Amino acid sequence: MSAPDDVDWEALRALAVEAMQQAYAPYSKFQVGAAALVDDGRTVSGCNVENAGYGVTLCAECGLVSELVRSGGGRLTHFVCVGPTGEVIMPCGRCRQLLFEHGGRDLVLWTVSGLRTMDEVLPDAFGPDDLKDV
Ligand code: THU
Repeated sequence: MSAPDDVDWEALRALAVEAMQQAYAPYSKFQVGAAALVDDGRTVSGCNVENAGYGVTLCAECGLVSELVRSGGGRLTHFVCVGPTGEVIMPCGRCRQLLFEHGGRDLVLWTVSGLRTMDEVLPDAFGPDDLKDV
């Protein structure tokens, strides 16, 4: 994994902002965009897609993970998500779990309190290793 300092975080945030501008959020009016680097140098992104059945809403991270898998898989290394004004926001709890699956404990996130690892924002996460002996 490249060191966080090697990463153009502003470019990654710009990609998240671009995704946010495509969001479908007629109910909450809270547009979200997410962007990440993949360990092979690819970038992936996503926006939230709401639904009249509110509970069916897809967070921006869902689109990002779908794009990751659809475009060949790999591991997420660096991640940021933004709200309607382009401000950095935290991924919700469910989406931290989604990100953990594909980035593991070393995934670096730009958070509201600076750069943090997944291990810091989702400590002692349940994940693939917990199922390896099943
Ligand atoms: N949202 C995301 O897309 N990702 C998050 O991590 C936090 C919340 C969306 C879901 C909903 O469309 C809107 O933000 C308000 O909760």
